[in-house]
Amino acid sequence: MNRRTSSRLSVRSALATLVATLGGCAWDGPMTTVIPRSDFAREILHVYAIVTWVAAGIALVVGVALAWVLARFREKPGAALPVQTRGHTLLELAWTIAPALVLLVITIPTLHVIFRTQGAPPAQALEVTVLGRQWWWEFRYPTLGVATANELHLPVGRPVTLRLEGPDVIHSFWVPQLGGKRDVVPGRSNRLVLTPQVAGAYWGQCAEFCGASHANMRMRVIVDTPDAFARWVAAQQVTPPEPSGPAAAGKAIFASRACVGCHTIRGVSAGVLGPDLTTFGSRTTLGAGLFPNTPENVAAWITDPGALKPGVKMPALGLTDGEARAVARYLTSLK
Ligand code: CUA
Repeated sequence: MNRRTSSRLSVRSALATLVATLGGCAWDGPMTTVIPRSDFAREILHVYAIVTWVAAGIALVVGVALAWVLARFREKPGAALPVQTRGHTLLELAWTIAPALVLLVITIPTLHVIFRTQGAPPAQALEVTVLGRQWWWEFRYPTLGVATANELHLPVGRPVTLRLEGPDVIHSFWVPQLGGKRDVVPGRSNRLVLTPQVAGAYWGQCAEFCGASHANMRMRVIVDTPDAFARWVAAQQVTPPEPSGPAAAGKAIFASRACVGCHTIRGVSAGVLGPDLTTFGSRTTLGAGLFPNTPENVAAWITDPGALKPGVKMPALGLTDGEARAVARYLTSLK
């Protein structure tokens, strides 16, 4: 390959890489970090801004210096070798101290945000225990007697303290519009204190590799107005009414099969390995945020969970199509 072909090739592959990389960028994608919706996310964006401007300043200085050196010391026919410098004390000191100062400028606001968001919560803070599990999220509200999964409801404007715990491996709680990542470590209780500032639904994702279905460990945080939050809590505390029609048949199947060994439905079963399903029908998604929560999707899930979520710990239960549909009717009626 001659030199021109190879340089044309490298330009092309650089362009292709750039297009592929930038193609993944969006200002307002579901996991955007630049549209903050809590005090924590705003502070993180502020740290980003500091780092970005500092880095841009450094890039400018380095770029200008490089351009000057290239022009000044360009090889010319017959020109002598420029003066060679070795062991210049002042320069050595300068390029040791300057990066140290840059790191200090980045470190101080970063540590400030980390310490502020894991310190003691304000007295009126809502308490939620977050359990990272392979591969779903459990949310418990100890003061409200509510337990749910994969969809965390929070009231707007009220501080919340999330206690991050986990029974199996390390996960990382991350809802970009509400703030930065924080690890969920077995045997340790990490804390995250933040105040949601705008009502809405925000996507989150486990951000620490935790096994086969790590990529499918999503969650939604629904920030409600105070009234809507109170209504949601009240609905979660009520035991769903006795089902009728196909849902009643579904309940009988659920109660007589292995389902009860893993799932809790208040008044029906008390399993603790899988999500609490007492008000399952009130959730919008299924399988840790993977699919819309419809009877069809739930029936497909019950028939073969591994086909919808590779690696999932729930086994196929050997139900017939009719049985799976009836159980799906029952579960989606629980709200
Ligand atoms: Cu949990 Cu990755």
